[in-house]
Amino acid sequence: MELSEIDQINLSAADLKSIAVLTGAGISAESGIPTFRGKEGLWKQFRPEELATPQAFFHDPKLVWDWYFYRRNLIAQAEPNAGHFALVELEKMLRESFTLITQNVDGLHRQAGSSNPIELHGNIFVNRCHECASHFSDDEIDFSEMPPLCPACRGPVRPGVVWFGENLNPIHLEDAFAKSHQATLFLSIGTSTVVHPAASLPEIARRGDAKIIEINPDSTPISHAADYTIRDSSANALPPLIEKIRSIFAVD
Ligand code: APR
Repeated sequence: MELSEIDQINLSAADLKSIAVLTGAGISAESGIPTFRGKEGLWKQFRPEELATPQAFFHDPKLVWDWYFYRRNLIAQAEPNAGHFALVELEKMLRESFTLITQNVDGLHRQAGSSNPIELHGNIFVNRCHECASHFSDDEIDFSEMPPLCPACRGPVRPGVVWFGENLNPIHLEDAFAKSHQATLFLSIGTSTVVHPAASLPEIARRGDAKIIEINPDSTPISHAADYTIRDSSANALPPLIEKIRSIFAVD
């Protein structure tokens, strides 16, 4: 019987001392949320420059808000899948030696029970003032005016996500860099690894002597550097991988 890709993965207890995980849109694909660059990806139907930049927002705030309302509605109907829940199990095993870093803005990791994901690209359900950065819930915002105005400073309110050309939250980024560098095992899951600075995290982990496991049906720019690649969906691959890790814990 052919060894599965997961059976071929050789991990020691030392490899499990500190685990960092980076996820991208692929982990939410099986929850019914389109990825960005896949066959039916969002960027195949829309142009990111027209929807996911500050320039696009100031040029046509209604078009940009309508697009985010469309995505919020899609995501609101989605549930976390087996891949999200497997990472919650891994966090319970490792506790403070586990770090989850996500590029996703859909909030499905939190919904599955992940306690403290680093949401590098923000959260789509947050409404944030572009001027004073205050956050507001939907019922605090008057969406009848476009752009909606901040109740605190009257600045324009936009979705609380990071757009192309914008800086990431420096505290989140610093934390993600540090935890990737310290990791003994780095899982890169469901990301095309093309958008920086998130895309540099696997390389930072590798330079810190972490073992790299990539879970993605397709190859990516970091596949060559991974110690193991699992060419499968994360909902299929993560549950058995986490059980393999649990068995190593049980022995040692
Ligand atoms: N399981 C695992 N991986 C999958 C699955 C799946 N079921 N389905 C697709 N994938 C993989 C694809 O092969 C692809 O490599 O997920 C990856 C998704 O890549 P992108 O669509 O580019 O998404 P992501 O890497 O998260 O994009 C990064 O770009 O547009 C910006 O801000 C946006 O956070 C996003 C960033």
